[in-house]
Amino acid sequence: MNTKAPQEATVRELCVSREDLGLPPEKLPRHIAIIMDGNGRWAAQRGLPRIEGHRRGVRVVEEVVRACVRWGIPYLTLYCLSSENWKRPPSELSALMELLGQFMVESRRHILQQRIRLRILGRREGIPEHVLREMDKTVSLSANNDGLSLSLAINYGGRAELVDAVRAIVHKAIAGHIREEDITDEVIASHLYTSGLPDPDLLIRTAGEMRVSNFLLWQISYAELWVTSDFWPDFSELHLREAICDYARRTRRFGGL
Ligand code: IPE
Ligand code: IPE
Ligand code: MG
Repeated sequence: MNTKAPQEATVRELCVSREDLGLPPEKLPRHIAIIMDGNGRWAAQRGLPRIEGHRRGVRVVEEVVRACVRWGIPYLTLYCLSSENWKRPPSELSALMELLGQFMVESRRHILQQRIRLRILGRREGIPEHVLREMDKTVSLSANNDGLSLSLAINYGGRAELVDAVRAIVHKAIAGHIREEDITDEVIASHLYTSGLPDPDLLIRTAGEMRVSNFLLWQISYAELWVTSDFWPDFSELHLREAICDYARRTRRFGGL
């Protein structure tokens, strides 16, 4: 006897039976955010230096971006470096910066060809000048693109983002441009790095950790969570498909009934 709910069975069958996602557009998450974790552990398991895990992780980023473009996901946000990751050894940080600079140059052609719009979320302090230059170049060249909106969270911290937003709002209040009673959810959201982006619908984390590690604290208030124990370098289009299909089966209530 088939004990699955009919709706669940339909979604699952659609997911495995078609080359594309096969889900009706209203079932797809509009915004997917990913905490890409486990690069170091992936490398350690193989007796490789941690940076090899990060290098492999970049290939996975490319695969995931391609899949989102193909499936018509409008917004993708990837956590690349947290403001707390500066606690890591200088050797890992400089290797990460090199990799980031390289990625910014090498991905540019693909980003522009795919009509992707690139955005960077985070503070600029600490990022080497040459990396910032390459980032800025792709951001400005892609600014008018109408395809996938890809945001990379680099030197990003959810609390730092809120601190920056509060500072900007207070600054306006002191200058007399905003009154206390005008401060609403929307006003706060519009002062975050993510201003103009919809909140994530689906938050994915790899490497099994059940925490949000200071990622998009304001924005994920009603995101659906999906965690895999697989490390980021082993993540693939198949994982993403599974997460999206799982998301499509959920009922979101936003506090209602
Ligand atoms: C995620 O992988 C990438 C960054 C945080 C830069 P990690 O480097 O955190 O890998 P683990 O968690 O130590 O395995
Ligand atoms: C979160 O991973 C940050 C990124 C994926 C960039 P971490 O490895 O820094 O998170 P914790 O330290 O395990 O919470
Ligand atoms: Mg980690």
